[in-house]
Amino acid sequence: MREDVIGRANVEDTPELDRYYAELGRQESYALWTVANAIEPWEPKPVSVPVLWSYEAMRPLVLKALDMVSPEKAGRRVIALENPGRKGLSACVGWLYTGLQVMRPGEFANAHNHASAALRFIMEGAGAYTVVDGHKMDLAAGDFVITPNGTWHDHGVDAGGETTVWQDGLDMLLLNQLDANFYAVHPEHVQKSNYPINDTSAVYGGPGLLPAGGEAWSKPYSPLFKYEWAPTYETLVKASKATDGSPYDGIIMQYVNPITGGPVMKTLGAHIQLLRGGERTKAHRHTGSVVYNVAKGSGYSIIGGKRFDWKKNDIFVVPSWAWHEHANSSERDDAVLFSFSDLPSMHALGLYREEACSENDGYQQLAH
Ligand SMILES: [Fe+2]
Ligand SMILES: [Fe+2]
Repeated sequence: MREDVIGRANVEDTPELDRYYAELGRQESYALWTVANAIEPWEPKPVSVPVLWSYEAMRPLVLKALDMVSPEKAGRRVIALENPGRKGLSACVGWLYTGLQVMRPGEFANAHNHASAALRFIMEGAGAYTVVDGHKMDLAAGDFVITPNGTWHDHGVDAGGETTVWQDGLDMLLLNQLDANFYAVHPEHVQKSNYPINDTSAVYGGPGLLPAGGEAWSKPYSPLFKYEWAPTYETLVKASKATDGSPYDGIIMQYVNPITGGPVMKTLGAHIQLLRGGERTKAHRHTGSVVYNVAKGSGYSIIGGKRFDWKKNDIFVVPSWAWHEHANSSERDDAVLFSFSDLPSMHALGLYREEACSENDGYQQLAH
């Protein structure tokens, strides 16, 4: 890929150079100028494309897995979402992985642990639970849960519960790129829960309150493993009456580690945002890949000039550096988007960059 710009590689092929490149190849080497322009793009050029997965289309397929495999045989009974721009890499966007896990009442997934950070957003069902390093918590639709890197975790649905579907999100593809992933299975199938149920929510989940004195939490992730839907939604609604929020995101909140005020985990983070009735945001773009799950309402997002209409439980992705803007299609009801992303990695590595759309009064032109 030649470029006629001073400072960029612009070498024409000649028979002499071709012979030279072959010589270099025999010594496991190459001339940088043959690839420099491709490996140092002017700006991020993701091969991931914006995609929306309709829950209406996915749900029957996910439920079908119940009869196709047992959780014991599958390890985890998950239907994963694949970005058509990056087939074969197990990624839904960038280096993010996501999948829909389904479990019947009475089923459980074996306890294990990995260097990857994982998170879950509960989409439907009742009676589900997860155990993270011995802390058991019950889960309901709309709850957000983390299983930080290195923690033992297992999940299940109580015998008296309902078939449950949740979205998993992991950073394992990034860890594999860095050759830093590990996996272990627990010596017991399930962990014993050593604490009162929902104990970390009880201790760390109070409104602006943290335990004073005693042993301070020093682990590199949030001690609040579960973020319940009801208080989260209530916070968004209250905030929507007190602030205009962000021109690009409406009323947006980050799920935080209450100890640091930063993201819940080092590599993966999550946000929740409310779009008021009739609200349409302006377009921006930034580094970092984002996976959205529609928690409430209906609307559309324009991503890279293309419109994606969404309703509850649909999942859609915004590749890094792609323009995006969101709209609530109801004039009366609010809409809520849950999202998770690799933004904490971008910030930690000093790679975060953001830009507002300056054309067309801040809105994208639809691509035709
Ligand atoms: Fe896991
Ligand atoms: Fe954004």
